[in-house]
Order: sequence, then structure tokens, then C-alpha cells
Amino acid sequence: MVAGRSRTVRVLSVVGARPNFMKIAPFARAIAARNDAAPGSAEHILVHTGQHYDASMSDAFFRTLSIPEPDIHLAVGSGTHAEQVGRTMMAFEPELRRVRPDWVVVVGDVNATCACSITAKKEGVRVAHIEAGLRSFDMDMPEEINRMVTDRLSDLLLTPDAISDANLRREGVPEERIVQVGNIMIDTLDRQRAAAAALDPLAILGAQARPGQAAKLESLSRTGGAFALLTLHRPSNVDSPEVLAALANVVSGRVAAALPVVWILHPRTQHRLERAELMAGLLANGRVIVCGPAGYLEMLRLNMAARVMLTDSGGLQEECCVLGTPCLTLRDNTERPVTLTEHGGVCLLAGNGPARVGERFEAALRMPRKPTRPPLWDGHAAERAVDAILRAS
Ligand code: UD1
Repeated sequence: MVAGRSRTVRVLSVVGARPNFMKIAPFARAIAARNDAAPGSAEHILVHTGQHYDASMSDAFFRTLSIPEPDIHLAVGSGTHAEQVGRTMMAFEPELRRVRPDWVVVVGDVNATCACSITAKKEGVRVAHIEAGLRSFDMDMPEEINRMVTDRLSDLLLTPDAISDANLRREGVPEERIVQVGNIMIDTLDRQRAAAAALDPLAILGAQARPGQAAKLESLSRTGGAFALLTLHRPSNVDSPEVLAALANVVSGRVAAALPVVWILHPRTQHRLERAELMAGLLANGRVIVCGPAGYLEMLRLNMAARVMLTDSGGLQEECCVLGTPCLTLRDNTERPVTLTEHGGVCLLAGNGPARVGERFEAALRMPRKPTRPPLWDGHAAERAVDAILRAS
């Protein structure tokens, strides 16, 4: 902080979708701690765009992670990308004019991140981006577009690792705007780990499993409880019925032959499986346990217990590194290369073609559990982010 500064810095932060919540929880806590130490140093206004709205996708995370109630709720809901981004910008602009913050802080790469950074910049408000600099170099991913637009507009780029710093330098971002703060999501993991460890994985599955799967749960408990954990939600994996059917096939065949599979369904994936008439087959498969969306602690506990993770989520790849869970990344690329085995992580890129997924799954089965933490993934990223914002104010 600038010595002798007396003005209160107004910080408006934005959340929209599930992966934002674990990033904003430590940020809100770090601002509150700064205010306790130096009363009146910063004011925090939290905006929820409402991109995710189901109790299981939003409210449950606010409760578990003790995120303060949003001061402003934009209730934009689901829709096409243009509808979501457009509705968010239209609803956010008048609130921004009313609040007039010194900073808009956005996290991650969802539509809310991109929409609110454009709106802020057009209103002349400075933007800080937490999780800046990630690049998959795959413009077919909506998140890559969100990341590039947000980073191009940001005044302060708070990065999780050195690879991200290098990406930004290559794009010509001035050095003084880049601050490596570490991975803010790991702040939440460290804080919640003990509470998650106290949960019983089989009890979680008992509560989460879709009805009619009691025999599968009994068999899992009888055989010692080893399982593979699966999540899918990327449009590139779930929107085409052919791709989704091929993935469901390798999961219920080659993967399930080696280990029972726990499939935690995102609402998007559930709709697609039902529309493609694949759900009944999965429910009938004795080795695939189909579950609804899990809460934060429940997912963390299942990740700790899983023998192997199969996922297309970026956040889960990072959590697998810290927990040591061998992870098959069901994509051809990742914006988080630091999580890959070649950079010391636990993740193997496996794409979404059945032959490669099957092969890489068998390689992952041979991997030991090997927890790893890149530099600054130490549980204190939020404090560094708040420091950087106040220093730049
Ligand atoms: C969004 C993010 C993605 C992130 C993911 C985590 C973008 C571009 N994508 O994708 O980066 O990894 O969140 O979940 O911002 N739905 C519900 N209830 C909800 C929310 C969604 O049923 O509370 C269903 C709706 O049918 C909706 C669909 O899920 O159309 C997709 O939701 P959407 O927010 O558009 O994208 P996600 O796939 O969740």
C-alpha cells in the first residue's frame, strides 16, 4: 500500500459461474483481513451475474465457502454466448455507474469475466484479472476468447505461474502490469481440506447417486472403494451426440472394466446425455455410478479418494496436482500446462478419442499419487492479489 494513503479503495469483484466461487472466497476474506488490519483501507462490493443459478451450482458454494451475500445480483441466467455476454453488459453498466469503483476485479475465464471487463473498461474503470495469462492457443474454446479479451483490457494481470507471465510478455503486456500471485483456488483448497477429509466418500456417493443404484454402491463398498472419478462439461466433449456417445462408451467399457467409475454430472452434460438417449444405458451399467452435481467439499473428498481422475475441467486438473491424483485431461490441449507431467504435474492430455483415452487411462493407472505444488501455490495468493491492487491504487 502507498504509505500515508488515507482514501478507501473501492473494489468491485465479479462472479458468474461455479469455478469463480472458489476464487472469490479467499479474495473477499483477504480484503476483509486488510480492513481489519488497516480500517477503511478498502471497500468490497460483490456482484453475482447469475450465469449459474441452480442451488447446487451456486448457493451451496456461497454457504460452504462463507462467501458474503452478493451486494448486487444481475440474474442473467442461461442463454447463447451473445445473450449471456450482452445481458451481463447491459445489467452491469448501470450498477457500475452507480457504484463507481476504483477497480473491477474479474476472475477466471467465463462469460461474466469477459462481459464485465469490457463494460468496466468502456466506463473508464480499471480492471484487475486474477488468473491472467493462461492460454490454450485454441480459439475454438469460448474460454480462450474470454481470456484473451480480458487480458488485453486489464490494467493489472495477476497470474498463477511463470508460464502465464511468459505468455503475457510475448503478447507485449508491459512488465509493470504483470504480477505473479500464485493460484488463488489453492487458497480455498488449503482452507477446506480438513473439512473435506472428515467426510466419508461412500456416504457422499450414497447422497449424490441417482436413484436405483444401491447395488452398485454396495459392491463398491464391498470391494474396498477404489474408483475412477469422471466429470465432463466442455461443449467440445458433450455437445456432439457422436463425441459424447464415444466417450460414454469408453468409460462404460474399457475404463469401467478396470475400476468402477463415479460420474459427477454437470447440468449441461445431464441434458445432453438425456437428449442423446445415453442416460438409461449408463444407469443400467453395474460399474458406472451416476451422480448429480457435487458440492465443493464433497468433490474435494472424492478427488482425495479417487484412484484416477478423468476430466475436462481446468480447476480439477489443478486440484489433482496439489492432491496428487493422477489425472486424464480429456482435451487435446490445456491452458494450464503447469499441471502436465512434463512440467512436474500429474495430468496427461488424452483428447476425447476412445483409443487414446483408453490407452492413457491405463498409463494413469500405473502412476503413483504424487502431490505437487508449483511456486506460490501456497494458500496465500489472495493476499498477494489484494496487496498488488492496493499498491497500484
Ligand atoms: C460455464 C463456463 C465454463 C466453466 C463452466 C463450469 C463460459 C463460457 N463457460 O460453462 O468455462 O468451466 O461454466 O460449470 O462461461 N445450467 C443449469 N443450471 C445452472 C447453470 C447452467 O441447468 O445453474 C445448464 C443450462 O442448461 C445451461 C447449461 O447448463 O444452458 C450451460 O451453462 P453455461 O453457464 O452456459 O455454461 P457452462 O457449460 O456451465
